Amino acid sequence: MCGIVGYVGPKKAAPILLDGLRRLEYRGYDSAGLAVHDGREIEVVRAAGKLENLANALEQRPLCGSTGLGHTRWATHGRPSEQNAHPHAAGDVAVVHNGIIENYLELKHELQASGVRFASDTDTEIVAHLIHRALEQGAPNLFGAMRQALGRLRGAYALAAISRREPDRLVIAKNASPLVVGVGEGETLCGSDIPALLGSTRNMLFLEDGEMAELTASGVRIETVEGKPVERAPRRIDWSAVQAEKGGYKHFMLKEIFEQPRAVEDTLRGRINLDEGDVVEAELGLDAQAARSIERVVLVACGTSHHAALVGRYWIEQLARVAAHTELASEVRYRDPVFGPKDLVVAVSQSGETADTLAAVKAAREGGARVLAIANVLDSAIPRASHGSLYTHAGPEIGVASTKCFTTQLVALLLLAVHLGRRRGALDAERGREILQALLELPNELRWTLARKADIHQVARHWHNAPHMLFLGRGLGYPIALEGALKLKEISYSHAEGYAAGEMKHGPIALIDENMPVVVVMPRDRQYEKTLSNLQEVRARDGQVIAVVTEGDAEAKKLAQWVLELPKMPELTQPVAAVVPLQLLAYYIADLKGTDVDQPRNLAKTVTVE
Ligand code: G6P
Repeated sequence: MCGIVGYVGPKKAAPILLDGLRRLEYRGYDSAGLAVHDGREIEVVRAAGKLENLANALEQRPLCGSTGLGHTRWATHGRPSEQNAHPHAAGDVAVVHNGIIENYLELKHELQASGVRFASDTDTEIVAHLIHRALEQGAPNLFGAMRQALGRLRGAYALAAISRREPDRLVIAKNASPLVVGVGEGETLCGSDIPALLGSTRNMLFLEDGEMAELTASGVRIETVEGKPVERAPRRIDWSAVQAEKGGYKHFMLKEIFEQPRAVEDTLRGRINLDEGDVVEAELGLDAQAARSIERVVLVACGTSHHAALVGRYWIEQLARVAAHTELASEVRYRDPVFGPKDLVVAVSQSGETADTLAAVKAAREGGARVLAIANVLDSAIPRASHGSLYTHAGPEIGVASTKCFTTQLVALLLLAVHLGRRRGALDAERGREILQALLELPNELRWTLARKADIHQVARHWHNAPHMLFLGRGLGYPIALEGALKLKEISYSHAEGYAAGEMKHGPIALIDENMPVVVVMPRDRQYEKTLSNLQEVRARDGQVIAVVTEGDAEAKKLAQWVLELPKMPELTQPVAAVVPLQLLAYYIADLKGTDVDQPRNLAKTVTVE
């Protein structure tokens, strides 16, 4: 999510760090900063907004010195601002961080109780204080102090730190967030991503989870957190700068599809209390009394986010036993809608800026409703206009067609449904636990599904010239069918329609003949038998069926010409996995047609106009 660059060597660090950050700029960020050791002190310069602002600040306050850290921040804890920008300093130490510290609140309270005053709202500042405290309490050096601090952290991190007392080194550590070391001639670098280092070296090595390292101008020393030395030789990375930005994938969209297991993990991180079968979510601001007073939930959204809302509606009704409706924000805002104090309005938006959704939020507030935002961009307009928020931690999404933001919106909506269900007394701890356990299994189920990409590619090769495609699904599969059709039209420009399978006989069945590919979303669920009958109806009219099924579905295999498998998994979380083959199908078809996958014609990532 955030971008990290570190440098130690003979050259002036600041220009190298700024160059590294510029190479990460494509990923999006909200603030940036540098910390450089000038031989005596560590100087920190930070700025909200674009790197230009940081460059201007550096002109006013040039940083000399040849050891330093740079960071571009994508906010997760604490709004985007100069004060929350990294590096964060405590005592002699400055730290940059990518990831999410799960137990940050617990650690923050502990540090506050011992007299620490915090200068930011970030989870990262805690790490700086922990390292500083370890040094105060006798840790031999920065490396030892980092090790002690790591012992207290739970969560995902790529960390880099410098200390005033050790001007010639960086100390770094990794768990679940990527960290790369660049080994140059008489200089050593680190970065969150390969592109950050390409201006200086192509000799790189990758830290593994649970490892830490000390970087000096003459090289790198790696150990596990437990203190076991690790030998690892650098290898040469021949990627072009453009390839490196996409992590070696052909398009950002493909990279983002494959990032989904990680994005889901990050969205769940720190939010699950298995013992209580409950969701820990302070930002929502919904206590039992507020939750019980809700008589109606209205989900408002546009585009892909609207499809996520449609799935959310099923979950909220089923688990929280409260009437739930979805509204296209672009429709509801012009209706003269009736909202009241017993309504909970949930605004779903990856960008958090969509004009129509924002207008719907305002209308809901005017009517006296309580409003919650589900968004991927911290402190964007929609969360700011809402009473509470639940952020997806998908990280920056660059492909215009949303993929990882959609799956993480689903995860956030299921967390919300459990949270509401528990507060309203509609869901007991046991069932809550089962659902949360199912959510925790999702990343592996997504990996399983992604590993079957060759089957999906085969279908794409066969059908990429089809002018039309129909997508059918029932229940939780219906919004997924809509989303599959939307993905295909967005990026391949093929005509595609999503339909509720039960509605097929009321119209679309007239379209079916041997030239019509029909994707049927039919994992094993309570609707299975009914959807299977729809499949048979399509086959009886010579339609060509691509069935998205649960592994081992012999019946569907007999009837459908193509089968795309999902793992055996709980019914409730199936839609999160079921969308993945459809995303890949759309991607492969678009790629075979040679369209501009990441920036399809006429579409924008953020739509701030009516
Ligand atoms: C645009 C994007 C879509 C997105 C929709 C709603 O059309 O291209 O991917 O689904 O806006 O955006 P939001 O940011 O509110 O989710």
